[in-house]
Amino acid sequence: MSGSNDGSPWWRTAVMYQVYPRSFADGNGDGDGDLPGLRAHLPYLADLGVDGLWISPWFPSPMADGGYDVSDFRDIHPMFGTLSDADAVLREAHALGLRVIIDLVPNHTSDQHPWFLAALEAGPGSPERQRYFFRDGRGPDGEEPPNNWISAFGGSAWARVTEPDGRPGQWYLHLFAPEQPDLNWHDPAVLEDFDDVLRFWFDRGVDGLRIDAAPAMTKKAGLPDADYGDVLEFRSLEWDDNPHWDVEEVHDIFRRWRAIADTYDGDRVFVAEAVVSSQERLAKYLRPDEMHTAFNFPYLTSPWDAEALREVIDTTLATFEPIGVPATWVLSSHDVPRTVTRYGRATTSSFFITDGEGEESDQALGTRRARAAALLMLALPGGAYVYQGEELGLPNVDDLPDEVLQDPMFIRTGGEVRGRDGCRVPIPWSGSSPPFGFSPDGVRPWLPQPESWAALTAEAESSDEGSTLSLYRAALRLRRVLGGLADLPFGWRESSEGVLDFERGNALRCVVNIGEQPVELGDDEVLLSSIALVDGRLPVDAAAWIRPGGRGMATGE
Ligand code: NOJ
Repeated sequence: MSGSNDGSPWWRTAVMYQVYPRSFADGNGDGDGDLPGLRAHLPYLADLGVDGLWISPWFPSPMADGGYDVSDFRDIHPMFGTLSDADAVLREAHALGLRVIIDLVPNHTSDQHPWFLAALEAGPGSPERQRYFFRDGRGPDGEEPPNNWISAFGGSAWARVTEPDGRPGQWYLHLFAPEQPDLNWHDPAVLEDFDDVLRFWFDRGVDGLRIDAAPAMTKKAGLPDADYGDVLEFRSLEWDDNPHWDVEEVHDIFRRWRAIADTYDGDRVFVAEAVVSSQERLAKYLRPDEMHTAFNFPYLTSPWDAEALREVIDTTLATFEPIGVPATWVLSSHDVPRTVTRYGRATTSSFFITDGEGEESDQALGTRRARAAALLMLALPGGAYVYQGEELGLPNVDDLPDEVLQDPMFIRTGGEVRGRDGCRVPIPWSGSSPPFGFSPDGVRPWLPQPESWAALTAEAESSDEGSTLSLYRAALRLRRVLGGLADLPFGWRESSEGVLDFERGNALRCVVNIGEQPVELGDDEVLLSSIALVDGRLPVDAAAWIRPGGRGMATGE
């Protein structure tokens, strides 16, 4: 299977493609993506040149949070298919040389999970309630939530239940939507059951697990009030000593899990989704007996600015190199505005879905920058993540009608935050009008696609050498030819303001122009550029891959 040529584990340099299954491809013609649809498009992914896929949750779920509300961790949502479809995805992906990571959501279950239903039924003080955080309320008659914790989706992190006798009763904790009650990881029953869940999927052949909301999993004893400072928002990138985020005991769970993963062959991997306040804190999740890699949120958040990007690249490498962990790079996901839209706005930095929301986006500018950003990301040392549709240069769909929006953020903020549906619109595969081959003609996909996507289908872009798809294919092929750029030393070259210029050993030089003037590239061979050079010079908001020959220094003119 694909990966480094030097025998080191595949995940150290892998480019992983994120599949959001409901929006990828509809195989059974009901308007929702599914596993038969995914199977049918695996050859597309192999041809694209990625090393594997990360599949967002595919488990049974009431879909209160797009599948991140799981009601059975050992099965497949009927909307997506069956366990044998999942086995077929694994088998066929592996036959094509693609690795498969799935998405484990251990911080919470669905409120329809049998454990939660049993906890409601069993009442206060029962062992069933021990699996979650049930507490009495404060104030007269327990009308106030047990503490001041907030939910990532807005409002209090507590919801009150009606007890079996019909009276208002205890409260339960949900750091995300009320339909996602937090599990109590101090309860041995929870720990033991998840050991078995890990084995269940490793035995079926998954190559790894992405761990959703990893820092949320343990809470400070006694559940003390949090000090959120002036901003009553879920800004975990800024929290240093928070009682429900990045609490030390969380690492015990990952040590336990690592011991399980290490009993399997084939370099199984854990990827942490850990949005924490510093790279040092993130590094703790990546100690040799914990997780293998992590998403790089500071990189995803960075504005389109040379100095900001240089700084986050330097900090990332300075954190990870000494601990022997590969860096990863990511530009978008199912949680953030699509890159093309973000880079076309005045506010190019975006982590909170509200950042830049409502600002006009210049799609041509955003596309140009997103193409340059792709060449930058794929030239950096380590692994990378590409979110489905990023390779087509899809924009966010910001004008979805209110009545189709499903994100709990939209619902829980009373429409103040539009949420993440705009980056989850189904993929346009072919044809000149919706559903663009996502579903059979005449079937309406679960979210409507814009008519303007006719030029952005995989089919249209496949036959266009200048398309974003062709650029990704070319870059990924070159990356392969260059051995995944595996562990080649990274070094900055001297460059003028607004220009990023670095080498990967003798194999590749990458120049990214975020300055104000075209950049002279010298005489070395240009292997690939995000847009055509003009008189041998690299235009603004463009990037080039060059075969270093020792001549030519990038200078702004
Ligand atoms: C992070 C996931 O990426 C996001 O989609 C989800 O809403 C939260 N975790 C809660 O599971």
